Amino acid sequence: MTHEMVKTAIQNAEEGGYQNVQFKLGEIEDLPIEDGTIDVIISNCVINLTPDKNIAYSEAFRVLKPGGRILVSDLVTHGEISEDLRRSFQAWSDCIAGAMEKQEYLDTITKAGFKDVEIMEAHYFTEPNMDIRLEGKILSIQVKAIK
Ligand SMILES: C[S@@+](CC[C@H](N)C(=O)[O-])C[C@H]1O[C@@H](n2cnc3c(N)ncnc32)[C@H](O)[C@@H]1O
Repeated sequence: MTHEMVKTAIQNAEEGGYQNVQFKLGEIEDLPIEDGTIDVIISNCVINLTPDKNIAYSEAFRVLKPGGRILVSDLVTHGEISEDLRRSFQAWSDCIAGAMEKQEYLDTITKAGFKDVEIMEAHYFTEPNMDIRLEGKILSIQVKAIK
């Protein structure tokens, strides 16, 4: 994210009269948040972009209060995808290049310390110009888990 994005968010909150929100610029691998202070983390299509999902989920675990929870929407893969295809520009622009195998992804959340890891919803992801070889191999999932 950029300072400009945070500036716009602050401006929008002011215009909307929202007083119970705060915006912090940070990386998911190094959240600018104190240990054990957060009730809920929501995220949409961000964690799949980090090359190290172990660190991202460990950070999420660190900042949550005991009993805190996550609800994450993300892209994961289902079946083999060639390295060639994964490295293509199309894969990067579709946010697929960093996507992890579904079970490995769920195991990463468990390894970070979370319990009750559960997929709430899953559907195949498709884009109008998506490479045909990716069809039926990318899943959009919503996962919840508890600290
Ligand atoms: C596909 S967009 C999703 C944005 C938003 N969550 C939404 O639903 O519209 C991905 C966002 O993740 C941010 N991002 C990518 N890698 C990140 C990282 N390591 N730490 C924090 N944000 C990151 C990008 O700046 C971008 O805003």
